[in-house]
Amino acid sequence: MKIFIDSGMLEEIREAASWGIVDGVTTNPSLVMKSGVPFRSLLEEIVKIVDGPISAEVVSTKADGMIQEAEGFAKIHRNIVIKIPLIVEGLKAIRTLAAKGIKTNCTLCFSAPQALLAAKAGATYISPFVGRLDDISTDGMQLIRDIRLIYDNYKIPTQILTASARSPMHFLDAAKIGSDVITAPFGVLKQLAHHPLTDLGLAKFLADWEKAKK
Ligand code: E4P
Repeated sequence: MKIFIDSGMLEEIREAASWGIVDGVTTNPSLVMKSGVPFRSLLEEIVKIVDGPISAEVVSTKADGMIQEAEGFAKIHRNIVIKIPLIVEGLKAIRTLAAKGIKTNCTLCFSAPQALLAAKAGATYISPFVGRLDDISTDGMQLIRDIRLIYDNYKIPTQILTASARSPMHFLDAAKIGSDVITAPFGVLKQLAHHPLTDLGLAKFLADWEKAKK
């Protein structure tokens, strides 16, 4: 499973990338707002840090506007993937961009039929938001299971990008189900890298090593 970092904070992206575990980056308008950096400059910096797919989200709600924004982002770097909301106008834009060879990440997916439509339109990635479904007492990971089953049924090449991940359990379940990618905030990536028994075990080994030297 590929691991993307879901962040607009350059320090977080740099730090996680330095661990050698980051395959790509996802951003969205809310994350860009939190970063305080103009979007284009932010993208220009991110592509220097991570050599992998970098999702840049459009804000137009009409296909023509989305395509225009996408063509502008695509010129920044070959790794830019255009994030398009899963609305009818978004499907039209995805179809046009696919024909032009521009990769897309279809975002704000909350149902398996939506995911099938995005794949039919030619999306490179589908982003089902598991955390936001959990927030409304719906099993977010069941959506990943359903999409995996449907995509496998028809050998659909669109990659499942589990998004809105909020905990290490989302990460574990996504990997067990066979999600192609997960995008997780820096905080979740840090949680994944730590285990209390690792810390305790290391402290004991180091203490014993000090004793062994005496
Ligand atoms: C990813 O592409 C999404 O932008 C992100 O995972 C949304 O996460 P949230 O539901 O925690 O805002």
